[in-house]
Amino acid sequence: MKRINALFLFLCLLLGINAQSLLSPDGNLKLIFQLDETGCPTYALQYKNIDVIKTSKMGFALKNEAALQNGFTILSSQNSSFDETWKPVWGEVNEIRDQHNELLVNLHQTRTNRYMQIRFRVFNDGIGFRYEFEKQDKLGYFKIQDELTNFNLTGDHKTFWIPGNFDSNEYYYTTSNFSEINANKADGSGIGTHKLFSATGVQSPILMKTDKGLYILIFEAGALDYPAMHLDANLKNLTLTSALAPDAYGTKAYMQTPCKTPWRTILVTDKATELLASKTILNLNEPCKIENTDFIHPQKYIGIWWEMHVPNKSSWNYADGYNIKIKDTDWNKLKPNGRHGATTENTKRYIDFAAEHGFNGVLVEGWNIGWEDWAGNWKEEVFDFVTPYPDFNVEELSQYAKSKGVKIIMHHETSGSVTNYERRIDDAIDFMKKYGYDAVKTGYVGWIIPRGEEHDGQWMAQHYTRTIEKFANNRIMVDQHEPTRPTGQHRTYPNLMACEAARGNEYNAWSSGNPPEHETIIPFTRLMGGPMDYTPGIFEIKMDYYKKGNLCQVHTTLAKQLALYVTLYSPLQMAADLPENYEKHMDAFRFIKDVAVDWDDTKILEAEPGDYICIARKAKGSNNWFVGSITDENARTSIIDLSFLDKDKTYDAVIYKDAKDADWQSNPMAYIIENKKVNNKTTLKINLAKGGGCAISLRPRP
Ligand code: NOJ
Ligand code: CA
Repeated sequence: MKRINALFLFLCLLLGINAQSLLSPDGNLKLIFQLDETGCPTYALQYKNIDVIKTSKMGFALKNEAALQNGFTILSSQNSSFDETWKPVWGEVNEIRDQHNELLVNLHQTRTNRYMQIRFRVFNDGIGFRYEFEKQDKLGYFKIQDELTNFNLTGDHKTFWIPGNFDSNEYYYTTSNFSEINANKADGSGIGTHKLFSATGVQSPILMKTDKGLYILIFEAGALDYPAMHLDANLKNLTLTSALAPDAYGTKAYMQTPCKTPWRTILVTDKATELLASKTILNLNEPCKIENTDFIHPQKYIGIWWEMHVPNKSSWNYADGYNIKIKDTDWNKLKPNGRHGATTENTKRYIDFAAEHGFNGVLVEGWNIGWEDWAGNWKEEVFDFVTPYPDFNVEELSQYAKSKGVKIIMHHETSGSVTNYERRIDDAIDFMKKYGYDAVKTGYVGWIIPRGEEHDGQWMAQHYTRTIEKFANNRIMVDQHEPTRPTGQHRTYPNLMACEAARGNEYNAWSSGNPPEHETIIPFTRLMGGPMDYTPGIFEIKMDYYKKGNLCQVHTTLAKQLALYVTLYSPLQMAADLPENYEKHMDAFRFIKDVAVDWDDTKILEAEPGDYICIARKAKGSNNWFVGSITDENARTSIIDLSFLDKDKTYDAVIYKDAKDADWQSNPMAYIIENKKVNNKTTLKINLAKGGGCAISLRPRP
């Protein structure tokens, strides 16, 4: 029997008949699957007959047993086609077409009698593939030592990368040739985290541009219970290999058949605008699992938040302390530090501002005991999530918010002590229900407990999914900070409104900040997996305003902060600055009040990663359009063709743009507001300052 198999394999190889190819519906992408001479599964990818990924290996090294890598034969394979349109609960468009061709290959490893399937899907703008394992006699439980999935590149592409840190994605991007990747030289490290896993380790999604002008994004989809896929680069061979966060035993993933991995994805287009419009990551995720989604509502919110991040203003903590045990502390006896942000009075001020200007939510951070000693000590019992500080009257505030038609957004900072959070989460949810909270911002600053786990490991992946499901069962929306980066799971769980999982605007308040190109890169990378809680809308740009001589600043103009509401898509958008700063610029604040957070349609008008983005979006259930256009550190003229507007209508356009002398560094707050009549024949030419932007609202005349 063995001999026949070997002979068969040899003949197949000789005749090349084990190669199978699969085309995208439009015929532009071609996936080729093949076993190599050792019986190792391989794939290759072409776009319009040009190689994009050369023959690349697939498989796994396992702990304490033979690898699932070679010695495979193809038992059978099945082809199918799929074309369906579905409606997201919220999103950038109101309908999404999922059109793809599929190939399922059934493999058998003869010498161990184990089976593995690989499922490929080819869309017009990219592919996904995943490994699947049926229930079988010789493979029940197994431990993944390493995933061997390889991406064999065709050249030394221009690459946008952040270093591979299993604990943090809060970096800004380095742009270099692939062969110049050096994780140790990357700047902008995350907060209090473990070291990099390799000098050539990078995170996915990783974006590349070839010298032929092809954009390639390597990422994943539907990662719910498996470690995040990082990548290790071989700078000589120009390859990337999957690298997964280990647990304390060095194991990457614990599997039990039947099971499957997340999708490994490669998006390929020759237009940057098409890459931004891709829905392939979402299409590879499972349909919505929440039966009744009526509690889910996109919203804008404000919060007691930025005042803790800017210098010299407020604190999360009520007293100043160290070495505090929440259980043993008599909070009424602690001496207040006089800077506590989350007081009853201050919260009422924010609730009033929200009610007056039409915001749904008010985030309040620092409302609960424990902030005196919350970070850096890797301690287990940090917060209990249910005990307010003595100066935060939750009963009174929940009544007050209700009377004003506003909801307070809960804040659960775990400080990385996830075991503590898991023990207390049911009580925390009961507390939220009692006081009428329907949304929570969770946070995972610092090193994880259980000790030995990292933010991007399997245990945490399962925790994030478990909590999203738990919140869904309790009709609660969630915004995660410091999670692993999302991979489109908001299709399945649309109560996951947004995540941070990247370097947000807050870095501009207390660090070297985010370079002006940052917001022109993250939509192509991090945001391909889901919306980000970036917290735009900062009007008081320089921190010197709060503390003389402080050099920190937001690295954009004020007008660009407005444009970000359109260019950085999220159904949850914060108006992040302080109410008193908005009160000084009510004319510009008008845009934040008006802009929508849920959309029927989206047009990507101009885009180049690292340089500029211009997007127009049509508000859900209305004829109003909003446009955002941003640039990096270079000034540019944005050419905005309004031909997407309805033919027979005239629109009132309000244009919020950089003043002539605006500049993100020397004069960031200089803006002009212009009113214009426009129609679908109009093309606007708008000058964006260095680090600048422009925001436009368009309303049809009745
Ligand atoms: C980091 C989060 O990103 C930020 O939004 C939050 O205010 C702090 N952690 C405290 O939880
Ligand atoms: Ca640039």
